[in-house]
Order: sequence, then C-alpha cells, then structure tokens
Amino acid sequence: MARTKVIEALSCTEYGKSVVVKGWVRTRRGNKNVSFIALNDGSTIKNLQIVVDFSKISEDSIKDVTTGACICATGTLVQSQGAGQSVEMQADSIEVYGPADATYPLQKKGHTMEYLREIAHLRPRTNTFGAVLRLRHNMAYAIHTFFHNKGYYYFHTPLITASDCEGAGQMFQVTTLDLNRIAAGNGPVDYSKDFFGKPTSLTVSGQLEGELGATALGAIYTFGPTFRAENSNTPRHLAEFWMIEPEIAFMDKEELMDLEEEFVKYCVKWALDNCADDLAFLNQMIDKGLVERLKAVADTEFVRLPYTEGIKILEEAVKNGKKFEYPVYWGCDLASEHERFLVEEHFKRPVIMTDYPKEIKAFYMKQNTDGKTVQGTDVLFPQIGEIIGGSVREENYDKLYARIKELNIPMKDMDWYLDTRKYGSCPHAGFGLGFERLMLFVTGMQNIRDVIPFPRTPNNAEF
Ligand code: 4AD
Repeated sequence: MARTKVIEALSCTEYGKSVVVKGWVRTRRGNKNVSFIALNDGSTIKNLQIVVDFSKISEDSIKDVTTGACICATGTLVQSQGAGQSVEMQADSIEVYGPADATYPLQKKGHTMEYLREIAHLRPRTNTFGAVLRLRHNMAYAIHTFFHNKGYYYFHTPLITASDCEGAGQMFQVTTLDLNRIAAGNGPVDYSKDFFGKPTSLTVSGQLEGELGATALGAIYTFGPTFRAENSNTPRHLAEFWMIEPEIAFMDKEELMDLEEEFVKYCVKWALDNCADDLAFLNQMIDKGLVERLKAVADTEFVRLPYTEGIKILEEAVKNGKKFEYPVYWGCDLASEHERFLVEEHFKRPVIMTDYPKEIKAFYMKQNTDGKTVQGTDVLFPQIGEIIGGSVREENYDKLYARIKELNIPMKDMDWYLDTRKYGSCPHAGFGLGFERLMLFVTGMQNIRDVIPFPRTPNNAEF
C-alpha cells in the first residue's frame, strides 16, 4: 500500500480507510491495555495519533517504539474520541525502521535555542524547527513565484569572484595555494600560480553581474548564497546567508520603492495564506505578537523617509532625552538602534529610507544633483532593522568612473562592469533582500542562527 502523509491522513474524513503512515515518534504514552503514539513525518506541524491496542498487537513487539524512533504503521483511520484531533489511526501492525535509544537528545520538550544549535543535525525534528523550515521553503517558493509572475528571469551569478561589490573588504579568499608553505616564509604570494591565476573570493553580492543580466534581459533576479567575513557576532548577521537580488532596467527610485514594498508584502501575505498552522504554532510558542505583526505589515503603507529627515527626527529624540549607544549626526551610518527607533517607536510602521550620504554607501549608487547624497532605498523593519538594501544605479559612465577612482577601487577589476555604461547604458535599479532577515520577521525567531539549517558564524562551521 502506498504511504499516506500525516497531513493527508489528518484531513481525511473517509473513516474506516486503511492506510500506511511512516515517520518519527514524537511521544508515546498509555497504560497496560493501550498505547498512544504521536507520529510526525514533517508534512505538517501536527502529529497523527496512533492507537495500539495490546489485545491486537503485543506490547513486547513495540518495545522499540520510543521517542525519536522511525516507524511504519499500518491501520485504519477512525474518528478520534480524544480532544485535539478529529482523526486517529487504529494500528494493525507496526514495523520499526530505526530505533532511538535513551541517548536520543530530543527526549523531552523545552530545550534552549543554544542547546539546539549544538545539535543542529537533529533540531529539524523539533516542532519549532520543523515550522521554521517549512516556512523557509514557502518563502523561497513565494519569491520565485513573485518574480516569475512579473516576467523577471532567474539569473545565476558566480559565487567565486574577483570583485568586491560592496567594497567593504569582507570577502573570504578562495585559493588552492599551500598556505602552510607561504606561512613558513616562502612568500611573497605568487597569485599567478593560484587556481584562477589571480586573487579570488566568495561573493558578497551578485549585484554587479546581475546588472549585466538586467541590461540585456530587462529584468532579472538572483537567489543564492552570499558570504561575508564580517566579524559581527550579532543575532542578525551570518557569514553565509542567502540573498535575493532583483535588478531592473528602466526603473527609477519611486518604482524601486514600490517594488520593494510590494515584494515584502507579497512574501508576508504568502506566509499568512499558506502557512497558517506553522504560524499559529510559532505565535503560541515563540512570539505572541507574530501573526498580528505580519498582518499589520501586509496591510500598512510603508513610510518613505529621506535620510536627512530621519536624522532630524533622531536628533530631536536625543534632545528630548532618548538615549542611544551610538551618536547621531548627519553623515553617520545608522545603527540598528536608530533604525528600530524610527520604525518601532516613531512611525510604528516599516520605513523605506532614501538618499543617503554618498560616503556611507557603495560606489555604484546614483548620485543626486546636491553632490552629497545618493539614491539608496533601504527598507527598515520592526524587530529586524535593515531587511533590504537597494538603490538606483549610477548609469553615467563619467560619474561612475570618477567615483571608482575616488575610492581607489582597482580599475582593472571593473572594466567589464564599466562596459554596461560604455555601451548602451540605461537607467536601472535593484535591491538585495537578506533571506534570513525575512525569515526572522516571518517566524518571530530571535536569532538568525535559528532560521537557517546550518548557520555559519565566526568560530562556527559545524555540520
Ligand atoms: O545592504 P547590502 O549590503 O546590499 C547589497 O549587497 C547590495 N549589493 C544589494 C543590491 O542592491 N543588489 O545587503 C543586502 C541585504 C541587507 O539588507 C540584509 O538584509 C542582508 O542583505 N545582509 C545580511 N544578512 C545576514 N547576514 C549578513 N551578514 C548580512 N549582510 C547583509
């Protein structure tokens, strides 16, 4: 008999139907006559209750059906007598595929997130991580659907690159050179002998190559792993994260902000519409305000705020007694505490901040005529701070060339990029959404290490 998934069994109203279910035992309880097994197979947060009657199946034959064991159960779906579910299974036979003895680390409920991180190979079997990982899949699917429906092409940019898109020097070097030999004093490093014949690194962003796609295909998006060697041990930074980067020809600042807002609202609404059970669980166990916050964002118009106005609001707040750890002044790079003040306390809605001082932004952003600011459009979210970084791109060859020179970015690495401005240049814009920052928002989880299966952070590359 073909296997029935738990999610299908639970929605079945054909009582008396024979089915086979397979999955992992969450709990087992009972008395000397009967045993109740809660079975989960990952298809839903909910468990199927399997009732084992010892007059039909001997107690001894299910001695290995313990928490964590993997089993196959054959039986009949019946209307449940107990509270909490409408269907349960009366077992006819149970086969144990893989037992789990008393050393199985997920015996009891209520482990700390820190402990679960140490057993990240097993934590997907918990309710919380099951919910998070199903939501993660759903968000990825929503993202592809959103862009596909708009006619954007999924464009694959390289993970190994010789250019530093953000210019922040946070790149992981890629080499096949023998570092031990070099360390032993056999330097200087001869990169012509390295695999690619020059220094290369893991990408910090696919944007520059994404611009090549947009200026040919019209509109593209990337969705792939991104690497940053920033030594920030915070609940919002990973060394390896996933980024979605749409890039669109002929788009201006207003249209870019419209797209950013439409996109995140679409993802949030998708979660509300398609992941109700998992969200209900997370709302109950992790963050009581989660669903309300998601609904609020899906229905609210985002504030659009020039950086200069934002600084005025923050300075006013300081004057009125608000204490920040980092100073506020025109030209400062906003800290997360500043962003969160604007979003959570002042406006109480997401904010799209625009027109930043050029000194704190990357070289490629379109320069405003004031000579001081650039057309950045970052989206700031409650709880998270910056969730999207975006901008209109400088399409003027001379201005872009001058900025690259001014910042001492090696011109030889930039030839191909400048060609987009040399041949048939066009106005264009794009943004990057940190996938795990979106995941933090839609799950209510507090730490970015808990919304990706195997987090990479300073001093941690386990599994
Ligand atoms: O603001 P960022 O650095 O922008 C770029 O990389 C642009 N090239 C994007 C573009 O315009 N195509 O990063 C974009 C987003 C941030 O808003 C944040 O959500 C996420 O990427 N991000 C991180 N997420 C997790 N861990 C980190 N270390 C992150 N750094 C950035």
